[in-house]
Amino acid sequence: MRVTFITRKGERVEAEASVGDRLLEIGQAAGMPLEGTCEGQMACSTCHVIIGREWFGKLPEASEEEEDMLDLAADVHATSRLSCQVLLTEDLDGMEVQIPSDSNNAQGF
Ligand code: FES
Repeated sequence: MRVTFITRKGERVEAEASVGDRLLEIGQAAGMPLEGTCEGQMACSTCHVIIGREWFGKLPEASEEEEDMLDLAADVHATSRLSCQVLLTEDLDGMEVQIPSDSNNAQGF
Protein backbone atom coordinates (compact mmCIF):
# COMPACT_ATOMS: atom_id res chain seq x y z
CA MET A 1 0.00 0.00 0.00
CA ARG A 2 0.99 3.59 -0.36
CA VAL A 3 0.92 6.71 1.81
CA THR A 4 1.56 10.22 0.46
CA PHE A 5 3.10 12.78 2.78
CA ILE A 6 2.70 16.46 2.06
CA THR A 7 5.61 18.47 3.41
CA ARG A 8 5.49 21.97 4.84
CA LYS A 9 6.62 23.23 1.46
CA GLY A 10 3.72 21.46 -0.23
CA GLU A 11 5.87 18.75 -1.81
CA ARG A 12 4.31 15.31 -2.15
CA VAL A 13 6.43 12.40 -1.00
CA GLU A 14 5.15 8.90 -1.65
CA ALA A 15 6.04 6.10 0.74
CA GLU A 16 5.55 2.36 0.50
CA ALA A 17 3.93 0.83 3.55
CA SER A 18 2.37 -2.43 4.71
CA VAL A 19 -0.82 -3.16 6.56
CA GLY A 20 -0.06 -3.06 10.29
CA ASP A 21 2.75 -0.49 10.02
CA ARG A 22 2.63 2.53 12.28
CA LEU A 23 2.28 5.82 10.45
CA LEU A 24 5.04 7.35 12.59
CA GLU A 25 7.72 4.95 11.32
CA ILE A 26 6.56 5.25 7.72
CA GLY A 27 6.84 9.02 7.95
CA GLN A 28 10.27 8.87 9.54
CA ALA A 29 11.49 6.44 6.87
CA ALA A 30 10.23 8.86 4.22
CA GLY A 31 12.32 11.63 5.77
CA MET A 32 9.49 13.56 7.38
CA PRO A 33 10.39 15.66 10.44
CA LEU A 34 8.42 13.56 12.92
CA GLU A 35 10.51 13.26 16.04
CA GLY A 36 8.32 10.81 17.92
CA THR A 37 10.30 11.63 21.05
CA CYS A 38 8.22 9.53 23.44
CA GLU A 39 8.03 6.56 21.05
CA GLY A 40 4.29 6.22 21.16
CA GLN A 41 3.65 6.86 24.86
CA MET A 42 1.37 9.81 24.00
CA ALA A 43 3.56 12.15 25.98
CA CYS A 44 5.13 14.43 23.39
CA SER A 45 2.95 15.32 20.34
CA THR A 46 6.07 15.62 18.13
CA CYS A 47 4.49 12.98 15.90
CA HIS A 48 1.44 15.15 15.11
CA VAL A 49 0.16 14.94 11.51
CA ILE A 50 -2.93 16.14 9.67
CA ILE A 51 -4.83 13.33 7.94
CA GLY A 52 -6.61 13.94 4.63
CA ARG A 53 -10.37 14.25 5.24
CA GLU A 54 -11.22 11.31 3.04
CA TRP A 55 -9.16 8.98 5.22
CA PHE A 56 -9.67 10.54 8.62
CA GLY A 57 -13.13 8.99 8.94
CA LYS A 58 -11.68 5.53 8.33
CA LEU A 59 -9.47 5.70 11.39
CA PRO A 60 -10.59 4.41 14.77
CA GLU A 61 -11.44 7.33 17.04
CA ALA A 62 -8.67 8.91 19.05
CA SER A 63 -8.44 7.98 22.71
CA GLU A 64 -8.89 10.62 25.38
CA GLU A 65 -5.14 10.61 26.02
CA GLU A 66 -4.49 11.27 22.35
CA GLU A 67 -7.02 14.13 22.27
CA ASP A 68 -5.42 15.68 25.35
CA MET A 69 -2.00 15.54 23.76
CA LEU A 70 -3.29 17.00 20.49
CA ASP A 71 -4.65 19.95 22.44
CA LEU A 72 -1.04 20.85 23.17
CA ALA A 73 0.26 20.46 19.63
CA ALA A 74 0.91 23.36 17.27
CA ASP A 75 -1.14 23.90 14.09
CA VAL A 76 -3.89 21.50 15.12
CA HIS A 77 -6.65 20.80 12.58
CA ALA A 78 -9.99 18.99 12.81
CA THR A 79 -8.32 15.95 11.24
CA SER A 80 -5.15 16.02 13.35
CA ARG A 81 -3.86 12.76 14.82
CA LEU A 82 -0.76 11.49 16.54
CA SER A 83 0.98 9.37 13.93
CA CYS A 84 2.26 6.97 16.62
CA GLN A 85 -1.37 5.98 17.25
CA VAL A 86 -2.27 5.30 13.62
CA LEU A 87 -1.92 1.72 12.43
CA LEU A 88 -2.30 1.23 8.70
CA THR A 89 -5.18 -0.86 7.40
CA GLU A 90 -6.09 -1.76 3.83
CA ASP A 91 -8.75 0.93 3.90
CA LEU A 92 -6.08 3.57 4.22
CA ASP A 93 -4.29 2.77 0.96
CA GLY A 94 -3.47 6.02 -0.83
CA MET A 95 -3.87 8.07 2.34
CA GLU A 96 -2.62 11.65 2.30
CA VAL A 97 -0.89 12.95 5.39
CA GLN A 98 0.15 16.53 5.86
CA ILE A 99 3.01 17.65 8.07
CA PRO A 100 1.87 20.49 10.37
CA SER A 101 3.42 23.83 9.55
CA ASP A 102 5.34 24.58 12.71
CA SER A 103 5.64 21.50 14.86
CA ASN A 104 9.37 22.06 15.37
CA ASN A 105 8.81 25.54 16.77
CA ALA A 106 6.62 24.20 19.54
CA GLN A 107 9.71 23.84 21.73
CA GLY A 108 10.17 27.59 21.66
CA PHE A 109 7.06 28.33 23.68
FE1 FES B 1 5.05 10.93 21.35
FE2 FES B 1 3.45 10.08 19.41
S1 FES B 1 5.55 9.73 19.61
S2 FES B 1 2.95 11.21 21.17
